[in-house]
Order: sequence, then structure tokens, then C-alpha cells
Amino acid sequence: MKDLTPKKSDLHPIEIASVDEIRALQLDRLKWSVRYAYDNVSMYKQRFDEAGVHPDDLTTLSDLAKFPFTYKNDLRDNYPFGLFAVPRSEIIRLHASSGTTGKPTVVGYTKTDIDNWADLVARSLRASGLRKGDMVHNAYGYGLFTGGLGAHYGIERLGATVVPMSGGQTEKQVGLITDFKPDGIMVTPSYMLNILEQFHKVGLDPRECSLQVGVFGAEPWTDAMRKEVENAFDMHAVDIYGLSEIMGPGVANECVETKDGPVIWEDHFFPEIIDPITSEPVEDGEMGELVFTTLTKEGLPMIRYRTRDLTRLLPGTARSMRRMEKITGRSDDMIILRGVNVFPTQIEEQLMATGGLAPHFQIELYKSGRMDAMRVYVEANPDATDELSKTASARMLTKRIKDMVGISTEIIVGEPGDVERSQGKAKRVVDNRKKE
Ligand code: DLL
Repeated sequence: MKDLTPKKSDLHPIEIASVDEIRALQLDRLKWSVRYAYDNVSMYKQRFDEAGVHPDDLTTLSDLAKFPFTYKNDLRDNYPFGLFAVPRSEIIRLHASSGTTGKPTVVGYTKTDIDNWADLVARSLRASGLRKGDMVHNAYGYGLFTGGLGAHYGIERLGATVVPMSGGQTEKQVGLITDFKPDGIMVTPSYMLNILEQFHKVGLDPRECSLQVGVFGAEPWTDAMRKEVENAFDMHAVDIYGLSEIMGPGVANECVETKDGPVIWEDHFFPEIIDPITSEPVEDGEMGELVFTTLTKEGLPMIRYRTRDLTRLLPGTARSMRRMEKITGRSDDMIILRGVNVFPTQIEEQLMATGGLAPHFQIELYKSGRMDAMRVYVEANPDATDELSKTASARMLTKRIKDMVGISTEIIVGEPGDVERSQGKAKRVVDNRKKE
């Protein structure tokens, strides 16, 4: 893999400013954002008033803890545009997330918001090792999902050539990568595995393709998966994080020279970690739920938005801004099985460490009598499909999960192609507990 470390002179000055300078900028912007939300969004005014806090009460960064939280349900309750801080006519773009239940959550951006977003995705791509003049294949889905268009504008802002492929049509993806020879790819990690599979199907060596770096996000993925993809393609794999309510992709991004967790672009987003049970802020370094306050958003300012993503804040390394640990899961994805908490990423980690198995998996939860039980569907590697190898792999994975995670699971090893393939975000857990 090539050294893709960006030149210091290509970075935005705030990326290498001192921590004191960053905190001072944050405080200025936080004061603005809290007042702006209070003055322009009736829900914030009502909530702050009820909690007995006023924007004037914010004189230090830690004063933010006095303010009430915002939840995903608040967006649903104010569907579609009730939390916008500007008249609808000043919103130049809408996005929405489908969600599994009920109404979608709608987000809106002013011209300035779109501009900042493009800048931050461009910054993220630079951190990933891409630069002006490169070509980037964009396989995040275009449409209401923020992935496709968010990445697209950032690639253009970087001064790179964008291939607006979107998700799906895996054969075509591989054809275009082979013919156009892009330097980078942006796609969910689970869909990258399908692209990898397609390379093998058509007899192409992925290590020989032009890709130097993959910018993967929109779903949790492990360091084990990073190694797998980096080896398979002989390229760097970096993590891009974001969520629609706060902006979309590019809220945080890993640096290619360190790959030690996404750097939060703290000049635009103020992070906190809270104890998800008590809702009290915890110290940097401690695990908890990530909470974001936007510092510059005009269309949809968010004050203390509960992401439900679990991580911890880590000190800056390649940049002065803080990092977040690679996300292991969302509180929504946590499986509680007979009192033990399990995340799909823990299963992924064990699967990757087991020989003879492909990296695709899906978890099924079901009732066995009165007890909750878990089954993991995996599949044999094409070179290990005989019954003996399959049985050995199943046994090995069962043991690994039992030893590392502490629960007994049934492992079903299928043929190559048996596990449902993702076109974007993978559906890792199918919960059949209520149906049986
Ligand atoms: O997934 C935005 C995005 C698009 C990020 C493309 C990166 C690349 P939503 O659909 O609103 O937005 O989903 C946001 O996805 O709260 C996390 O739970 C999860 N997520 C996003 N990025 C990562 C990541 C986009 N790098 C939700 N690692 C977030 C783990 C991630 N989880």
C-alpha cells in the first residue's frame, strides 16, 4: 500500500490548530447555535423554558450539560419540517431516512449548510489520502439517503472526478472500476464485500485493480474486516462516520496515516459522551452514548442530539481534534441474550478469525421454548465447501463465540451465496422472537 499521508499544507488551518484555539472557536459557535435554536425553533424555546435554562446560561462548554436532549422521536413528532429554523423556501435540499417504523425523519439544508457539508466531506477525503485530480467511484446510494449526494458534493469539492455509480448493479460496478481505474471508492463495507466477490466471479485479481483507498461507513465494521478488505484489494480502508440528523457522511473521518478511529470535525460539531442510563456526561475515554450539538447548522440546528451510537472520545493524534473509537454498535442493535449483551460486530470479529468461512453473515433471534436463542447464518469459502470443512468451521466459530462473547449459538454454514447480500447497509439481525 502506498503512503497517502496528506501534506500539512493541504489541511485546513483549524485541523492543526491548538486544542485551546479549537475550544475557543467551539465556545463562540456553541453560544451562537444554542441561541439560534432557541430564537428560531419553537420546540427548543419550549424545552429550554420548561427546563429553566436560557441561552445566556451558557458561558463555558460544560454549561451545555444543563440543556435538554433532542431525540430521533422529536423529528418524527415535528414531521416533516417542524424543527427547521428557516422558512422552507431557504431550504435547498431535503434528505430523509426511512427508519424501520413510522414516519421517515426529514432533514433540511440551507445553501450554507450544503457548502459546509461539501467542505467537510472534502476534508474527510483528504484525510483518507485522496486529493485533487484523483478519481473516486461513489457507490453510496443516491436519493433520500445522505450517503450518495453527501459523498458526491465532497468529491467534487475536493477537485476530484466523481463516478456517480450509486448502489446495486454489482457487475457494472466492477466493470466501471476496471475500465475507469478510480483511485478511491466510497461504499458501505458490507457492499464492498459483494464487489470483492464479483471480482472473483469474473476472474479478476482485486489486488491488481487501481483502487488505493476505500472510504467505508454508514454501518459498523470491525478492524478484522478492515484487514480483510485491505489485503484483498491491496488498498487502505478508512472509516467515515456520520448521521443524517447531524449532517450526513463526514461528521468524522479517520486519517489514513493512523487509522485509529474517526477524527470528529470539532469546528462544526460538539461531541459529548453520556451514560445512556443516567444521561450524565462522562469523562473523555469512557464508553457511552455519543451526543452531538451542531455548531454551524442553519436549516436544522441540533442541540444535544442523542445518536444512540456507543463509543468513547479519544485525544487527537494525526489532528488536534478528538477522535471517536470505531463504533462497535448502536444501543438499538444490542442483542440481549439471556442477560448477556452482544453486538453484531463481536460476531463479525469472531467470524473473520475463523478459517474456511466467507465474511458474510446474518443473525437470527428466535424462541427456543421460553428461552431466547440465536442462530448465525454464515457460508463456506468457495474452497472449503465439503461437509468436513463446514462442520469444522461451524464448531470452531461456535467455540470462539462461546469463549469470547459467552453465549451458545447455532451456526449454519451454507453454500457460497446463501447469506442475503447487502446493497447498502447490511441487515445483520433478523428478530423472529415474537413470531414463534
Ligand atoms: O449512514 C450517513 C453516512 C453515509 C455515513 C455514508 C457514512 C457514509 P444515516 O442513514 O442517518 O446516515 O445513519 C446514521 O449509521 O447513527 C450510525 O449508527 C451508523 N453509522 C454511520 N457511519 C458509521 C460508521 C448515514 N462509520 C447511523 N461506523 C449512525 C459505524 C456508522 N456506524
